[in-house]
Amino acid sequence: MSATITREPQPDSGTSPEIVAVRAWTARGGEFPHAAVLTAYRRWGKALVPGGLLDALADARPRATGGLLALLDVLLDKRDGTYDYRTYLALPLLAPHLGDRDLLTALLVADLMRFELDAAADPAGPLPVLPPDDALVEKRLRHGLRVIRPVLNRLGWVVPVVAPGVRAEARAVWAAADSHLTGDQRLMLRCTVLPVDVVHDEHLFIRVLQTFETAFAALARDLERASTGLTGGSAGDAEDALRHGAALLREVSPLWSAVATMRVEAFRRFRQWTEGASAIQSRHYKLMESLARRPDAARLGSAAYDHVPEVRELVATGLPSVDEAYRAASLPREARVAVAAAMADFAASVDVWRRTHHRLAVRMLGAETGGTGYTGGASYLAAAREIPVFRTVP
Ligand code: HEM
Repeated sequence: MSATITREPQPDSGTSPEIVAVRAWTARGGEFPHAAVLTAYRRWGKALVPGGLLDALADARPRATGGLLALLDVLLDKRDGTYDYRTYLALPLLAPHLGDRDLLTALLVADLMRFELDAAADPAGPLPVLPPDDALVEKRLRHGLRVIRPVLNRLGWVVPVVAPGVRAEARAVWAAADSHLTGDQRLMLRCTVLPVDVVHDEHLFIRVLQTFETAFAALARDLERASTGLTGGSAGDAEDALRHGAALLREVSPLWSAVATMRVEAFRRFRQWTEGASAIQSRHYKLMESLARRPDAARLGSAAYDHVPEVRELVATGLPSVDEAYRAASLPREARVAVAAAMADFAASVDVWRRTHHRLAVRMLGAETGGTGYTGGASYLAAAREIPVFRTVP
């Protein structure tokens, strides 16, 4: 990458309050000092956290279990050499929440909007570099609200809006989310935004990636249901699951418009620290692809699946796909036509997703720059865009 590194690594200070707090926890236990550590990470950006704090966290790790151990692994990824898409997005900490797609989506998008509102009120707050102007904040809130409104309806959350305008509505949505948060969820939200730099737009980028990841996990469940329905003679269930998946992917699509508001200079600045973390490593995306149709040998043997060996293994050991289940099912003509139409609908929603992603990548990177997953970048995506979601439906 050619972007200039504009910040120097920070000097160590063995006496900074967060180091003292972590060392005290290691010596005596009690409450782990989450707030002090997370505040320090946001002050430096994960890529430039002082070595003294990393040492203190590494010394604390042998005492940690459960969620705290997962957090420390994520915080120490750069030092451990394990930094990737999963640690960048803190996916091990999101994993326990992925099963409830609507709730997690509501929390992530509400937090995305909360951060934009807070930064507008206090531009010197966390991630102060390249703050957005008022018009940009409103644009982001508008896209966030488009995604979250149907989710809130399904959740049955009441959001009393006391004044007109997107800001008032977004504030009301955050207040509603805040009032629903359990202690675990609040901690999860705080621990899952760990930007590598201190650029404002990286918060938006992380939350958008996480919300899409939540959608991929839900789509994988829909495809599993579709395939089980077809195998078990329940074509109606398969049709519903496919329609549900297609609608869900369309419902989150305004997030593309939100992430497209990132300033190219902001993106290029924090991207100098994200080498090695690419969504090509997303298990849920590849699981979704493989549950729809067994990938061809060439795709399965390519970089696309080198990054997700566990999904490749699942395919090799016979992961059932909707495509195969549809072909094997003996269905009455009407049911076959209905399922085929639902498959076409699902495929169309994935197709739009891929095309939008490709267009955004070209805009942010140019046609020639390689990806952080070490592919050719836009050329990789242009080829992947053409892969059929299902074989031609008879
Ligand atoms: C500025 C925005 C983005 C850019 C420039 C970008 C760029 C890229 C590039 C170049 C690749 C190819 C792999 C590599 O070498 O890294 C890729 C793959 C991928 N990206 Fe993005 N991306 C962006 C946003 C997103 C978002 C918001 C998502 C949502 C989760 C996403 C999901 C994916 C997925 C799933 C793949 C793997 C596709 C495959 O293997 O077929 N990307 N991206």
